[in-house]
Amino acid sequence: MNAPVISPEVITEPVASPQAPVVITICTTCRKAEAAPDYRPGALLADALAALPDSGVTIRRTQCLSVCTRACTAALSGPGRYTFLFGDLDPERDAPTLVEMAQAMANQPFGFVPWKARPEALRSRIIARIPPLEWSPADGSAPV
Ligand code: FES
Repeated sequence: MNAPVISPEVITEPVASPQAPVVITICTTCRKAEAAPDYRPGALLADALAALPDSGVTIRRTQCLSVCTRACTAALSGPGRYTFLFGDLDPERDAPTLVEMAQAMANQPFGFVPWKARPEALRSRIIARIPPLEWSPADGSAPV
């Protein structure tokens, strides 16, 4: 039996809006090979995000995003939005950068932020971009 394929009819209008939350999910269990065993850069990044002024972005902590060799790691996602996964983040630098990316996602159809519109510090740290189920054109193209 063939696997079901999501047809173009699934495409809908973007459901994301500035009111829908963008969630930053941070792995708090990553380690750096060259660092002390109890150094957890993701936990520090989560603390740095929580200490920022309220940006409308939701922050949640998780244990492992399965990209352990790219510590520290974070995923940005939300209802009807693309999911972007980043690695090699710096807890002392990247909290405001992740918020900037989340705010860009909040204002784009399906949360899709083109590479050139992403914060420069994140461009080379992308690991994955995963479309939402609501966006599935037959040719697999991204929203424009
Ligand atoms: S422990 Fe952080 S991605 Fe696996």
